Amino acid sequence: MTDFSALDAACPLLECPVCRGRGAAEVPLVRHDRQLACPNGHGFDIARQGYVNLAGGAPPANADTAPMIDARQRFLDSGVYEPIRQAVSHASDAAHWLVEVGAGTGWYLDGVLTHRRDAVGLATDVSVAAAKRAARSGLASVVADTWAGLPIRSASVDAVLCVFAPRSAAEFARVLAPGGRAVVAWPTPRHLAALRERLGLLNVATDKDEQLVTQFGEAGLNPADRELVEFSAECTAQQVADLVGMGPNAFHDHAPAQGPTTIDVSVEVGTFLRAGA
Ligand SMILES: C[S@@+](CC[C@H](N)C(=O)[O-])C[C@H]1O[C@@H](n2cnc3c(N)ncnc32)[C@H](O)[C@@H]1O
Ligand SMILES: [Zn+2]
Repeated sequence: MTDFSALDAACPLLECPVCRGRGAAEVPLVRHDRQLACPNGHGFDIARQGYVNLAGGAPPANADTAPMIDARQRFLDSGVYEPIRQAVSHASDAAHWLVEVGAGTGWYLDGVLTHRRDAVGLATDVSVAAAKRAARSGLASVVADTWAGLPIRSASVDAVLCVFAPRSAAEFARVLAPGGRAVVAWPTPRHLAALRERLGLLNVATDKDEQLVTQFGEAGLNPADRELVEFSAECTAQQVADLVGMGPNAFHDHAPAQGPTTIDVSVEVGTFLRAGA
């Protein structure tokens, strides 16, 4: 039997992607049996696996595939990225309503919720394979395209988490409550640099840092704290293969991973505050 408790708890965050509840007294989606319903009569089926597709269209070409999600789950569960998860969790502070966008398996959100039993979380991703996996982990999970607009009520969220995923500063600012925060993790140019060179992997764009601060500032999200998470880790050939296979390099040719390898992780975890607390 499907457990709807996580989805039910997250429903107050959700709004109809078709009409946004316009004209109705109550905006949020509510669950009736195996459907989420909008006050204007639009309905969205809850899939057997417990997620809900609120995207309404075909996923874009860069949505994670099922093999990528398998690789991501194996790699993340092996614990190598735990310091990043801790930094994201620390930056999420005392947020009650949390949304992780481009959540993949929802590993980061799950980490926050494990320590914060009172908090409510929602995972969104454009990939159906990702949404299924997040739901299987017990998270409230919806398919949604960050670029098309999140099916989330304005000013309803305390923390938006975005780890290595597409960022829409304007959309994050819209859904965040005054005083809410976007917690964003992005790679520095040093991230996995030696591994990328050795295996011929894609490069990290070097202007990400300034671009991001500018975009977020223009949307009214002001930089607050920032933590640079840097460490080296010894990885098995399987971990390296999963690390490569879970990201955009899965779509490109590269040399195969061979033997144990030391990887250098270098990730910024930045907090951007929405003014008006
Ligand atoms: C590099 S993965 C990161 C996943 C997860 N945050 C993590 O670090 O484990 C990027 C994720 O963004 C999702 N994604 C890509 N385009 C998206 C979009 N337009 N809207 C929402 N999610 C998107 C992919 O399906 C994928 O799960
Ligand atoms: Zn509607």
